[in-house]
Amino acid sequence: MDFTGLITKKIKAALGERSDQLEISNLIEKPKDLKKGDFAFPTFVLAKKFKKAPFLIAKEISEKIDRSGFEKIVSEGPYVNFFIEKNSFTNNTLQQILTNREFGNNSDGQGKKVVIDMSSPNIAKPMSMGHLRSTVIGEAISKIAQANGYDTFKINFLGDWGTQFGLMIAAYKLWGDDEVIEKDPVNELVKLYVRINKEAENDPKLKESGRAWFKKLEDGDHEATQLWSWFKSVSLKEFQRVYDRLGVSFDSLNGEAFYNDKMQPVVQMLKEKNLLVPSQGAQIVDLPKLLPDENFPIAMIVRSDGATQYITRDLASAIYRYDHYHFSHALYVVGNEQKDHFDQMKAILKLAGDDWSDGIEHIGFGLITMNGKKMSTRKGNVVALSDVLDIAHKLASQQISEKNPDLKDADKVAEEVGVGAVIFNDLKNERNLAIDFDMNKIVQFEGDTGPYVQYTNARANSILRKSNYSLSGFNEDFKFYDQQAWPIIVRLSQYGQAVKRAWEMREPSIIAKYLLNLSRDFNSFYGNTVILVDGPELPSRLALVKATSTILKRGLELLGVKAPSQM
Ligand code: ARG
Repeated sequence: MDFTGLITKKIKAALGERSDQLEISNLIEKPKDLKKGDFAFPTFVLAKKFKKAPFLIAKEISEKIDRSGFEKIVSEGPYVNFFIEKNSFTNNTLQQILTNREFGNNSDGQGKKVVIDMSSPNIAKPMSMGHLRSTVIGEAISKIAQANGYDTFKINFLGDWGTQFGLMIAAYKLWGDDEVIEKDPVNELVKLYVRINKEAENDPKLKESGRAWFKKLEDGDHEATQLWSWFKSVSLKEFQRVYDRLGVSFDSLNGEAFYNDKMQPVVQMLKEKNLLVPSQGAQIVDLPKLLPDENFPIAMIVRSDGATQYITRDLASAIYRYDHYHFSHALYVVGNEQKDHFDQMKAILKLAGDDWSDGIEHIGFGLITMNGKKMSTRKGNVVALSDVLDIAHKLASQQISEKNPDLKDADKVAEEVGVGAVIFNDLKNERNLAIDFDMNKIVQFEGDTGPYVQYTNARANSILRKSNYSLSGFNEDFKFYDQQAWPIIVRLSQYGQAVKRAWEMREPSIIAKYLLNLSRDFNSFYGNTVILVDGPELPSRLALVKATSTILKRGLELLGVKAPSQM
C-alpha cells in the first residue's frame, strides 16, 4: 500500500477544488515520535496560499477528511496527524498474501507479448561474463514481465555466422583432432582459430583457404555445413551446461545464420524506400544526412565485397520477429557498448515506416570486472563462466559446513546458494552500472548478498518448522502486536508496487533491493522478539513469518534465484 498516495488523495478530497494545483505528497512527513502518528501533514505551505492560519487549515482538514483505514486522524496545531488502523491493515495484508497466490502480480500486459533477445553468445568462443549478464538480466526481466501480465518469448540470438567459420574449418582440416575437441570443445576450437590466425601472418595461403571454405559454407556445401553444424552443436552443449545451472531456457535459438536467406528482402526493401545509397562500392544508409539532428554514424548494410553486416542481420531479425510474434515490446539485452548499433537499427526501421519499431528497446548494462580488472577473453585474463560458478559453489559449501554441518542435501543447497549468489550480485545494482565481482564477498551469508536473502527465508522456514503450525490454524483474524513488525507489514504490502516498477524501469534491481530491505526488516524483528511463545499473539506472528517467507521466495523466483528451505 502506498500510504503517501492514499493520504494525498484524502487530503485533496477534503480540500476540494482549492487543492487542484497543489503538490501535497511531497509535504507528507513521517514523524520520529510515534505518538504523533505514522504520518503527518504540515499546513504551512497551504496557509500561505490560502491566506489562513495553519492551525485552522489543519483543523478543517481533520474535520472533513475520510477516516477509513485510519484509527484516527487529528489536528495538532499546524499539523494533521495520521494513525493507521494497524490491526485491519495487518490482517488485510497477511490474509491476501497467505490466500492469494497472485498477490503482487497485475494484468497490465494482458494480451501483449514481449520478445526478449538475450544471452546470445558466439559459438566456438567461450561465453563471456557479458553474456552471463545478458542471460541473467534477460531471464529476470522475462519473469517480471510475466508477473505484470505479459506473455514472453526468449530468443538466444546465437552468433553462429561469419567469415571466421571459414578459417576455423580450414584450421580443423589441417590440425583438428575429433577426440580432443569433443573433450573440451570450445577451448580446442579457440586454440585452432588462434593458431591459424598466427600462422596466416606468414602464410597467406591459409587466409585464402579460409575464404574458400567460407564461400563453400555460404553455398551450402555438404562438408562445410556439416563441420559448421558440429562446431555449433558442441559449443551449444557446453553453453547448455551453464544454462542448466542458471535454470534458464529459451523459446528460440535462431541465431545469425537463420537470417542468411532473409537479408536480401531487407536490402530490397531499403532500396525501394530510397534509404540505400551506394558509397565506394558498398551500400549504406546515410543516417547523418537523413537525420541531421541526431548523432548517428553511417550504417553499412552491404560491404563492397557483397557481405552483409551485423546490422543487416539485426534488421532482418527485427522484421521477422514482428511478423511472427507481433510483439508489443522487443527487448535487446546487450551490453552498453552496443547502444549505437541498436539506436541505428531502430532509426532505420522507423525511416522505413515501420512504426512498430517504437516497441524496440535496447536494455543495456555495464561492464563486469573481477577484483577491479576487466574480464577479457582475449588478453589471457580468462575466467570461464563454469569456473566462476564452481568457485561460488565451493565457497557456499564451506559456509554451509560451518553453519549447518548436518544439513541434508548439502551439495544441492550449496549449488543453489553459490549460483544464487552470482545471479543476485549481477542483479542487485542498477543494470547500467559496472559491477565488480569479489567472490568472497558475494557468497557471504551477511551483507547485501543473495545468500543473505536466502538465509533469511531459511530462518523463517525454520521458525515455522519448529512451531508445528498448520495453515488451517490461520483461520482467525490476525492482529498487530509487535511494533518491531510494522516495517515488515508495510514492506510486504508494497511488493506489488515493486513488481510494477521493476517492469516499468526494466530493472530487476528494484526487486533485489526490495528483498534486501524485507530481509533486514525481518531480521531486526527476529533479533528483538521471541517469536515462539504460546499466547494469543502466536498465530499472527506465525502468519507474519509465513507471509515474509512467501514474498521472499516469490521475489527470488522473479530473479531466477532458488530459495532453499534450509541452509
Ligand atoms: N553475439 C553478440 C555478441 O556477443 C550479441 C548479440 C546481441 N543480439 C543482437 N540481436 N544483436 O556481441
